[in-house]
Amino acid sequence: MSPRKIKVGIVGLGTVGGGFYDISKNSDDFEIVKVLNRSSIKYETHDVKKYQIASGLEDLIDNVDVVVETVGGTDFADKVVRSALKSRKHVVTANKALIAENGVELLNLAKSVKKLLLFGASVGGGMPVLKNLEYHNLDGISRVYGIINATSNFVMSKLSKGMGFEEAIRIAQKEGYAESDPGDDISGKDAARKLAIICAFITGCLPKLESIPITPLRIDKNTIKTFDEMGMSIKPLVYFEIKSEGAELWVGPAAVPKKSRLGITEGTENCLIVEGKSGINSISGTGAGKNPTAYAIMADVISIARGETRSVSFNDTPINVLESHFETVKNVKILKPFR
Ligand SMILES: NC(=O)c1ccc[n+]([C@@H]2O[C@H](COP(=O)([O-])OP(=O)(O)OC[C@H]3O[C@@H](n4cnc5c(N)ncnc54)[C@H](OP(=O)(O)O)[C@@H]3O)[C@@H](O)[C@H]2O)c1
Repeated sequence: MSPRKIKVGIVGLGTVGGGFYDISKNSDDFEIVKVLNRSSIKYETHDVKKYQIASGLEDLIDNVDVVVETVGGTDFADKVVRSALKSRKHVVTANKALIAENGVELLNLAKSVKKLLLFGASVGGGMPVLKNLEYHNLDGISRVYGIINATSNFVMSKLSKGMGFEEAIRIAQKEGYAESDPGDDISGKDAARKLAIICAFITGCLPKLESIPITPLRIDKNTIKTFDEMGMSIKPLVYFEIKSEGAELWVGPAAVPKKSRLGITEGTENCLIVEGKSGINSISGTGAGKNPTAYAIMADVISIARGETRSVSFNDTPINVLESHFETVKNVKILKPFR
């Protein structure tokens, strides 16, 4: 007799949840038994069977082993995750806003009910950042920095080729790389949430978003030209470095040599450099979008199906956020030594 497949419910059948539903139809490890979405049109789009449609959140949670939260935001999503954990169900989410803002409480709740709250899809989509950090042994990591927001890297790449800011955003939206409201990407808030999660994953301390210095991506043509003539490209970076007295954390534009690993990371590609006892390594890949993120969710669901038991917890001990030690010219940090 084949082992029982675990039962999964999806709340939120949008880009990511719908993508996950579509790729999950023939899994040997799990089956989608319930789905819940605000508008019913999505059930038709994804050809959801009548018996899979939940009558409400309670119906969904009662009938599954794992709840996949792909609603987004921090209101209803928080209710979904809390209710699922309180009903002793595992949860998988791609929601970086929720983990960056409420991660301490939610992970503690998961621990107290001995269930897992996995969020690998929240940082890097198809680029498995958190799994990679574990691979490098968290205690041995000294710095993590690089490009982790595909929309802003796409926009910055266009600006470097002489395009105007508004036009670059319009093209990103037209080609599906930016959401209809790309505000959080362009302001650096999305990258800051991911940076906060990376910091918490390594140190255990989840920094408050307000404590992370963010420099917006507004760079004028002259600044781009000045750095270009020096053989450098400007990239939208996140930076984490652990020091004895705290951590240097920031989000903002930084100049790197054009031929460096980060310098050649163009368009919607993401790339993080991880430095520490294991050496200097890079992680790269498509950071976001329907399929990369859907597969990252699937990886977490399969981990649960195959008996993953290790849980992560964060604490809210304030982390001492140190001022950046990099020289800054016209709001652009000059990243030395270069990689
Ligand atoms: N898109 C990406 O590339 C990406 C990458 C990494 C992580 N993420 C994360 O994944 C999550 C989902 O993002 P997304 O891009 O898939 O968002 P989305 O396309 O807007 O999908 C959200 C879905 O949730 C549904 N929903 C909203 N409120 C609901 C409620 N109260 N009850 C039931 N369903 C509700 C929406 O229904 P309607 O049909 O009514 O709109 C929609 O189908 C977010 O946390 C995001 O940060 C996204």
